[in-house]
Amino acid sequence: MESNNLPIGVFDSGVGGTSIWKEIASLLPNENIIYLSDSKNAPYGEKSKQEIIDLSIKNTEFLLKLNCKIIVVACNTATTNAIKVLREKYTQPFIGIEPAIKSAALKTKTNTIGILATKGTLNSELFEKTSNSLGHRISIIEKVGKGLVELIEKGKLHSNEMTNLLSSYIKPMLQNNVDCLVLGCTHYPYLISQIREIVGDTVQIIDSGEAVAKQTKNILTKYKLLNKSKQESFHQFYINKEKDVLEMLVSKKSKSINIIEKDF
Ligand code: SIN
Repeated sequence: MESNNLPIGVFDSGVGGTSIWKEIASLLPNENIIYLSDSKNAPYGEKSKQEIIDLSIKNTEFLLKLNCKIIVVACNTATTNAIKVLREKYTQPFIGIEPAIKSAALKTKTNTIGILATKGTLNSELFEKTSNSLGHRISIIEKVGKGLVELIEKGKLHSNEMTNLLSSYIKPMLQNNVDCLVLGCTHYPYLISQIREIVGDTVQIIDSGEAVAKQTKNILTKYKLLNKSKQESFHQFYINKEKDVLEMLVSKKSKSINIIEKDF
């Protein structure tokens, strides 16, 4: 197989990275994609840096055995803790997801932005470096979204439990005049309608999905790896837990989508 026709590999701690898969599949409809959902080990956000690195290596090895031409780390926690190690260890290009605080800093009028992310992301050196680079001009209110990933992995997106947790995390930000809210975890775009109910129309909700898809296209173009084939693309999903929630999120309407439950 020509290397252009090889698949893009995408991995996440669970089903949330499908929010990134959707953006990539929509911008690059010719590309074949293999998505790995490590739901058995979710959430990564409460694990140690070394555990996150080890899991990220395991996921990468899985995707490389399937001949993926590039790897998208569709998980903020894995990106902020492990992407440096992955880039040093492998020759394939890696695309990562960093919380979009730079973009929020350009948009805010109150100079106060909120970020909801995992403990692993907010404690990482990469996040600290990015937030320090914004200087003292912008005030950043950080909040760990404890429990949100677990509820999403269970499919409880529209539960009272979810609404209560979101309100308790976001309402104090509003009292502090936040006008841009950064979703610093790829699971959270699935909560946008619930978050909108809480913040109303004046707060901008910012996630990284579109920017990551554009970056994926840029990198494939740079390495001359864009898939030019006219064949229908395939989307293969692997998950190491029950597949019901994943099935609900990716909607199996298209016959090019296949989901396999497998222990890894
Ligand atoms: C998690 O597994 O805790 C969340 C994944 C992410 O940070 O995107």
